[in-house]
Amino acid sequence: MNHENKAKWGILGTANIAKKALVPGIKDADNSELFAVASRSEGKARQFAEEFELPSYYSSYENLLGDTEIDFVYIPLPNHLHHEWTINAFKKGKNVLCEKPLGTNSGEVEEMFEIAGKENLTLMEGFMYRFHPQTRKVKELIEKGEIGEPSFFRGAFSFPLITEDRDDDIRWKEEMGGGSLMDLGTYSVNTVRYLFGEEPNRVFGRNFTHPDHTAEAETQAILEFPSGKTATIDSSFLLTDRANYEVTSKNGRIQAFDTYGPRRGKRLKIDIDKGNTRETEVLEGVNEYSLEVEHLVDSVREEKTPFVSPEDSINNAKVLDGIRASAEEEKWVQV
Ligand SMILES: NC(=O)c1ccc[n+]([C@@H]2O[C@H](COP(=O)([O-])OP(=O)(O)OC[C@H]3O[C@@H](n4cnc5c(N)ncnc54)[C@H](OP(=O)(O)O)[C@@H]3O)[C@@H](O)[C@H]2O)c1
Repeated sequence: MNHENKAKWGILGTANIAKKALVPGIKDADNSELFAVASRSEGKARQFAEEFELPSYYSSYENLLGDTEIDFVYIPLPNHLHHEWTINAFKKGKNVLCEKPLGTNSGEVEEMFEIAGKENLTLMEGFMYRFHPQTRKVKELIEKGEIGEPSFFRGAFSFPLITEDRDDDIRWKEEMGGGSLMDLGTYSVNTVRYLFGEEPNRVFGRNFTHPDHTAEAETQAILEFPSGKTATIDSSFLLTDRANYEVTSKNGRIQAFDTYGPRRGKRLKIDIDKGNTRETEVLEGVNEYSLEVEHLVDSVREEKTPFVSPEDSINNAKVLDGIRASAEEEKWVQV
């Protein structure tokens, strides 16, 4: 693809995840070019643009959105700003890749897609793990009936956010849409819905809020599906690094390790247990963020619904709403 055919991207905010994952992700995407960054601080925008060799930078998000050369905007802002800035981007005719979770509740997410539809623009939630060959391999193994019909999923995602230098992290703030469920548990919810190909009909949640912070630090949830399948998920800012899941049937079990987060260059493992035998698959690390970016641009150009579809993101948000409501009300909640 020649330079002229590349989609031009702008980034709102100088977020850590942009520096760590999406800058290389957009730069390595065949169909994309990273064109500009905006920050609330001109100094930060300039520094970011210099460090990552971007042609343009802006000292306000509004000004970046006003740049008519930009076709796609990546939004890695704190969760409570996703809704507002995605809609602002639509008003300026931009397609949007917005970080997970798309909104702080399903009502926000529904509205974001409603406006995208009206403006004939595309919005995709940044569930990069869905583009990783590891995830696709697990889905393929299940579809091939490798362990028969799975009936149970267990998903874990945690990391310790308890060091003093992270006391001010956006994840600790309820008013910013923080909390472990919104940050980490959302991946496990998305994974089980994808792998089972089914929506849970009721959920039970329990959480713990650390006295020093407003957002919950730890959530555990049970999900029940109409077919009788069940899942447990847990997310935590108080436990060591874990990112894994298992899918189990009466015949066997598939376990995937190191399942989320920037993993470029890492070799990822899947164990397939049947009876007393174990097979292990090791997949080469790829830049899943590049695959995500390329896919979104291709979807827009080919007028196709993205792999992480509006329905998928809305349903995911409904499950998160249900788990939060259940934890608050201390009872099962219908989704
Ligand atoms: N897909 C993934 O692998 C992944 C991984 C981590 C995080 N995420 C998601 O990415 C998003 C950002 O997470 P992060 O950890 O990278 O966040 P972060 O480093 O704290 O960055 C957030 C950025 O938002 C801007 N911002 C605007 N208003 C703000 C406010 N009131 N307070 C703080 N920052 C504000 C800031 O940019 P300026 O100051 O430059 O304007 C800041 O750099 C979240 O939605 C998170 O869930 C995704």
